[in-house]
Amino acid sequence: MSAAPDTNISPTAFLNYWKSIPSTVDGMLGGYPQISRADLKGSSNFLTKIQRLFPSSSPSPLQRGVDCGAGIGRVTSGFLSTVCETVDIVEPVEKFANEARDAKVTGPGAIGNVYVSCLQDWTPEERQYDLIWIQWCLGHLKDKEVVAFLMRCKKAVSMDGWIVIKENMSTDREGGDVFDEMDSSVTRTDEKFQKLFKEADVRCLKTDLQRGFPKELYPVRFYALKP
Ligand SMILES: C[S@@+](CC[C@H](N)C(=O)[O-])C[C@H]1O[C@@H](n2cnc3c(N)ncnc32)[C@H](O)[C@@H]1O
Repeated sequence: MSAAPDTNISPTAFLNYWKSIPSTVDGMLGGYPQISRADLKGSSNFLTKIQRLFPSSSPSPLQRGVDCGAGIGRVTSGFLSTVCETVDIVEPVEKFANEARDAKVTGPGAIGNVYVSCLQDWTPEERQYDLIWIQWCLGHLKDKEVVAFLMRCKKAVSMDGWIVIKENMSTDREGGDVFDEMDSSVTRTDEKFQKLFKEADVRCLKTDLQRGFPKELYPVRFYALKP
């Protein structure tokens, strides 16, 4: 039996890859900067949907949020700052974290703490966050690291807070996860995500697909999680 795809993930390799990428929206979005608008709109719609579906267990207003794997702060700048009073940043590549720290926000929210760290090594404080947003970075964590991180998020989220994951979905014909050597990442299946949620003992209360992306890209799925 061949090794599980996630065993190939190497922090040296993914950090070297990201250090070689320019600090631009184009760099963050793999040469598809034109999807940023639809991405941010889709995220805003998904958050509104879960807040409407679960009004009594959604903090309002959202005080502190965190943008995990924030890159240059594209998501913070164009979305999270419009819904959270303060947004913290977690990003391992220093040049991106510096850009994110200085990012112009479109909303009234302010940028708070900036943690230059991989999610594998980051332990958020307990009950800190009304919204933990994790987008396009979990592929750089091995399966057991995803589970461990979600268990830390469970403690870090406020009483009514949300953990939201937004990630590419594998379209592998054999239905498995796919390792990409170029950036040392794994693209997982929906089934794998559901299995990891079970192991981390988090509940997935709503999931949706992002709409409006070019057909040649991976499907992108949101998951709204609670402890
Ligand atoms: C595809 S970009 C997405 C950036 C941002 N989430 C966005 O949507 O614009 C992936 C980001 O994840 C960061 N990253 C890579 N490995 C990571 C890790 N182990 N933990 C957290 N972030 C990581 C990269 O440095 C890069 O900024």
